[in-house]
Amino acid sequence: MQNAGIGELGLDWRYVAFETHPDDLKAAIEGARAMRYIGLNLTVPHKLLAVDLMDELDESARTWGAVNTVVFEGRGASGEWRPLGQWAGGPIEEVRTRGYNTDADAITRSLREDLDCEPKGSQVLLLGAGGAGRVAALKLAAEGVDRLWLVNRTESKAAQLAEEIRAAHPTVEALVGYPSTDNKLDLILNATSLGLKPDDPSPLDASRFPICQARAVFDMVYRPDRTALLQAAQSADCRIADGTGMLLWQGVKALEIWSGKRAPADAMRAALQRHLRNA
Ligand code: ATR
Repeated sequence: MQNAGIGELGLDWRYVAFETHPDDLKAAIEGARAMRYIGLNLTVPHKLLAVDLMDELDESARTWGAVNTVVFEGRGASGEWRPLGQWAGGPIEEVRTRGYNTDADAITRSLREDLDCEPKGSQVLLLGAGGAGRVAALKLAAEGVDRLWLVNRTESKAAQLAEEIRAAHPTVEALVGYPSTDNKLDLILNATSLGLKPDDPSPLDASRFPICQARAVFDMVYRPDRTALLQAAQSADCRIADGTGMLLWQGVKALEIWSGKRAPADAMRAALQRHLRNA
């Protein structure tokens, strides 16, 4: 996806993936800085750890408390800082890191585009209170969701997140546990890692809440074959979307931050879909 976007923009960059142990994250970022990388994307389990490792945090990373996009910025003779991907020439005297979060906006963009789901005033059941669940919950709350039920295997994490939402967004009713079965929901959103493996069970306990009571179901997991949750949702005639749209839009935004140019979303979407089909 990124290499397709980079190619369309005519940039001589390459996007490559490295597996890095969390203990080595600091050293990996320093290595990339020394090698004058343009930027980085970070995924599980680095997004929270990276917050304390950045020289600067963009408002997005501060708001959502997680970093998924790093920009290396250079300072030249004029003293002005500029992303290395937009460097105009001349010697670079110093390089610093700036952390962004492009996940949160990607969630709501995908909900709107793929499910026609407007968070404001909606009733949502969110499964998962880990890193991804936390960002989703806070973003939905910031968008003015009406009632948000939080379900997590470790209930204390859901309770802590509900507290955080009540404190920051007093108009949002944040509840812990499943809604009663007669509630109609606008959305069930899976932000747990259940579904990543092909034989994972659904993260929704169907004995606690019937999926047919939800208009739409969004699963952050993206795989060529549907997850157990999305299969059940489709059988119940819910609108469904997987995490492909979220993956696309966080990447589009990251490329725009690195390059300072409008990213070619259609070419990136086509490359992403091709890759997922062949995975
Ligand atoms: P991410 O950044 O992808 O959210 P994470 O912070 O490790 O990763 O969170 C993983 C989420 O999936 C958590 O909500 C986790 O529940 P716990 O908080 O109880 O760990 C959930 N999860 C992982 N494996 C699970 C399983 N087998 N059953 C139910 N929930 C699971």
